Amino acid sequence: MSARPPVVSRVSDLIGNTPLFELCRTPANTRLLLKLEFFNPTGTAKIRMARQMVLDAERSGELRPGGRIVESTSGNTGLGLAVLAAERGYRFTAVVDGHASADKLRAMRAMGAELIYVSDEGEDGLATAAREDFAEQLAHATENAIFTEQHNNPSNAVGYYPVADELCAALPGGVDWLIGAVGTGGSLCGTGVILRGRCPGLRVVGVEPVGSIAFGGPAAPYHQSGTGTPEGATIGALVDFDLIDQGCKVSDADAFATARVLARRTGLMVGGSAGGVVYQALTMLDGLPPGSTMVGLVCDGGEKYLDTVFDDGWMKEHELLDDDLEARVDELLAGLAPGR
Ligand SMILES: Cc1ncc(COP(=O)(O)O)c(C=O)c1O
Repeated sequence: MSARPPVVSRVSDLIGNTPLFELCRTPANTRLLLKLEFFNPTGTAKIRMARQMVLDAERSGELRPGGRIVESTSGNTGLGLAVLAAERGYRFTAVVDGHASADKLRAMRAMGAELIYVSDEGEDGLATAAREDFAEQLAHATENAIFTEQHNNPSNAVGYYPVADELCAALPGGVDWLIGAVGTGGSLCGTGVILRGRCPGLRVVGVEPVGSIAFGGPAAPYHQSGTGTPEGATIGALVDFDLIDQGCKVSDADAFATARVLARRTGLMVGGSAGGVVYQALTMLDGLPPGSTMVGLVCDGGEKYLDTVFDDGWMKEHELLDDDLEARVDELLAGLAPGR
């Protein structure tokens, strides 16, 4: 892990060294730490892998000066690629659908990205499979263009190796449990594979929305943005089922209630997928061996979801607003975080 120089000249030099936040510590001295990846530029972990994909494509000669990067994105990967394209003189086309947060799309456009919308018959315009097909065809048909193909690109997982380095440097006692959302699988499995080498007893827990298909169960629409594998999409090659000890499913209602309660109780604004990670972690914490350290990966912050997860009107419209559930999550957190 390299320390950041006091002055930098590229936005991508600001990637990494994100803080760890202790959310709770049980009476048995088991603690839940959150790796706050929204402290990266663009407010998300995904810029780590965007940088890795671009640098590796340059090194291999696939991406040439003045070239175009094409990617299918729910927004966060696109934000990272938009930064890298701006810095390194590439053009960038983001293939998106109606599910992406409006703020992510506006920010990509502000950084010079071209957006192409692909729609599908799917509920709320989630069109992951159609987006990927379109991006592949577009890159193929365009001179000097590459499809970075985040779901199948090993550089995606490699981009998260430094997360493991940062965790080891910050936690000399090691990490016992790593928990994170699984979309492409890059962040959890890239971090997990290196971390397991350093902390041999590490257990890795993957979280996906109810309705996502990577860990089984019936497919159904869901609103947790950026994460999971919706019906019709192929499970990404980076989802390493040998590495993941436990695959869990969290409903939109539980994930969003957790994000909302966290914001009110601690002032920490996390996105919907991180709400799911924290919910799952909270339900497990009491059952872990005393003294365990669990680290949850927080992919992005809540500010991108002010019009959805944190908007009562949107929550009501999608039948997700549930005061009783929020009260239960609040109690769960209060019970695990004495004195907070
Ligand atoms: C908000 C959010 N959460 C979770 C994920 C899943 O991360 P990964 O693709 O590394 O599995 C993503 C990926 O884009 C995301 O944007």
